[in-house]
Amino acid sequence: MIEVQSVNKAYEMPGESLRVLDGICLTVGKGETASVVGPSGSGKTTLLNLLGALDRPTEGRIEIDGRDVAGFSEEEAAAFRNRSLGFVFQNHHLLPQCTLLENVILPRLAGDWEEAEGVTTERAKALLEEVGLQDRLGHFPHQLSGGERLRTALARALVNEPDLILADEPTGSLDEETTEVVADLLVQLNEEKGVTLIVVTHNPALAKRMQNYYELRGGRLEKR
Ligand SMILES: Nc1ncnc2c1ncn2[C@@H]1O[C@H](COP(=O)(O)OP(=O)(O)OP(=O)(O)O)[C@@H](O)[C@H]1O
Ligand SMILES: [Mg+2]
Repeated sequence: MIEVQSVNKAYEMPGESLRVLDGICLTVGKGETASVVGPSGSGKTTLLNLLGALDRPTEGRIEIDGRDVAGFSEEEAAAFRNRSLGFVFQNHHLLPQCTLLENVILPRLAGDWEEAEGVTTERAKALLEEVGLQDRLGHFPHQLSGGERLRTALARALVNEPDLILADEPTGSLDEETTEVVADLLVQLNEEKGVTLIVVTHNPALAKRMQNYYELRGGRLEKR
């Protein structure tokens, strides 16, 4: 399903070029799970952004379901993100002026789905219940703890029933117990719905629950 071939990524800044990824190759089959660990600044978020068509590689090719993600136009990238992808961002990116329920409903509206409003709302409520936030539907992101914001971001990533979830530190600020809840939820999604999962994490316990375990270091990706 996902085929990353010899991908390089350099960030160009005035007077310098920062090479972050150097000859990355990675294959993740449909319905498989993979985790990527690596030191801070090693390029994990950079790699996820490339896979999610949020950024383009400097060189190399990224194919998802036979389509060249790096070659997407803006519209194709947006449609891909709305239709096929659930992205859990490292810093959550919740809209501060929207309630939790509205934040979770939002991608469903952007995706141009033909569905009654009530159905979308029920789906969003059920997801917020799964992550234990059923009593906070009308609250705003600033009224939540970091872990609660993260769980909201996870619910939001699931609302479009994506085939692929890219999760950037999905248990970053969570205690051990909640980490387990989130890990269980991710594994369950994979096992029951066949969702393909790529998880970036500093948490070895979460990393080991994925079928394949990679380490990013010095711009290179190695299987562990
Ligand atoms: N837009 C950008 N412009 C210039 N440099 C960038 C940009 N985004 C990231 N970088 C640099 O690229 C390197 C990799 O960043 P990235 O965010 O991918 O690391 P990471 O592995 O996700 O780290 P962390 O574990 O801290 O989240 C860092 O040195 C970072 O400063
Ligand atoms: Mg990061």
